[in-house]
Amino acid sequence: MEKGAELKVLLGIGGGIAAYKSCELVRRLREAGCAVRVVMTRAGAAFVTPLTFQALSGHPVRVDLLDAEAESGMDHIALARWADRVVIAPATADLMARLAAGLADDLLTTICLATEAPMLLAPAMNRVMWEHPATQANHRLLQQRGVRMVGPGTGGQACGETGAGRMAEPQAILHALLGPGTGPLTGKRVLITAGPTQEPIDPVRFIGNRSSGRMGVALAAAARDAGAEVRMVHGPLGVALPAGVNTVAADTAESMHAAVLRHIEGVDLFIAAAAVADYRPRTAADQKLKKNAAEMTVELVRTPDILADVAARRPRPFVVGFAAETAELRENARVKLERKGLDMIAANDVSAGRAIGAPENSLTVLWPGGERLFPEQPKDDLARALIELIAKRMASGAETDSN
Ligand code: C5P
Repeated sequence: MEKGAELKVLLGIGGGIAAYKSCELVRRLREAGCAVRVVMTRAGAAFVTPLTFQALSGHPVRVDLLDAEAESGMDHIALARWADRVVIAPATADLMARLAAGLADDLLTTICLATEAPMLLAPAMNRVMWEHPATQANHRLLQQRGVRMVGPGTGGQACGETGAGRMAEPQAILHALLGPGTGPLTGKRVLITAGPTQEPIDPVRFIGNRSSGRMGVALAAAARDAGAEVRMVHGPLGVALPAGVNTVAADTAESMHAAVLRHIEGVDLFIAAAAVADYRPRTAADQKLKKNAAEMTVELVRTPDILADVAARRPRPFVVGFAAETAELRENARVKLERKGLDMIAANDVSAGRAIGAPENSLTVLWPGGERLFPEQPKDDLARALIELIAKRMASGAETDSN
């Protein structure tokens, strides 16, 4: 990890509502020992006043390129040379387009052309703007030039839509810039399973499920942001892999089981968020099956229960399972908590297609002697709240209480 003490960070603020989150980012950068200078675009200054960032950074904030008075102090070339790192948060679609095109039509883009410092962008925009091929092409081009990206995340947006385009949280930006920080899981090793499994019937067909892996990925990111060293064993995901997390791909229940056992040693917290198939075809045909017969039977056999096997180990990590239920959520989850000998279980209501694969969810979390309900919210928020609760339970030695 790079020490924050000597790091000079030039923070660029683009014109998006997520600019308000950058106030917190400045505070956290300074807490981490960084020197921060803020440069805003005109549009950025329309969302949050330069005065706010001046107070937070302790230095005058610059917006205009052709400001004779400011240029007689630290001019734009001096600012570009001063920076050890350039971070742009929020990076809007327009700002990314101007950077990709190499424009220098305001102070921030001019500094970006004039600096040799590594750049980190935290894109933030409406979902449709993010998914637009022009934005995606600019994103790829900037990455090819060595610009690092953090986020965007998925979830509720200020425009009322839900989807990809939410700016990464200040803690995630800090992590991308400085490496693992401090949080309630500092020094802890966390292993998480995520996503569905695919159990082959023949070379082209499989038994699978609707899991996107979104909750497991959100948990991995939240644990990372809480300071943990995180490894995620995952099936085929419908969402992007999180940055700053070790990942191991495992498509079947058996390969996921093997991967978990390979990496379980020394783990402090195990979270089983994967939707693991309970049964697999006894044999997978070598050749694609032909539709010759009117009927066909696939014989199924049980897969290993990864969660139960980890919970049975001694010594063992703090073990958190998930329960997807269509009826009698709490009762079934409580039984599962006890039967599998877990420290905590998070129960999902998956009746009528809810939760599985969706961007939002609610959870009923149970542990021996306590429970808490987390109301419907984006999975990123839910994951942060769950990690906070887990960290608290771990710190309390998992004594029985219900807070
Ligand atoms: O018993 P049930 O499958 O409902 O339990 C769900 C929990 O067990 C989830 O946390 C899931 O990740 C985990 N699980 C597992 N291995 C299996 C089946 C489920 O780890 N083979």
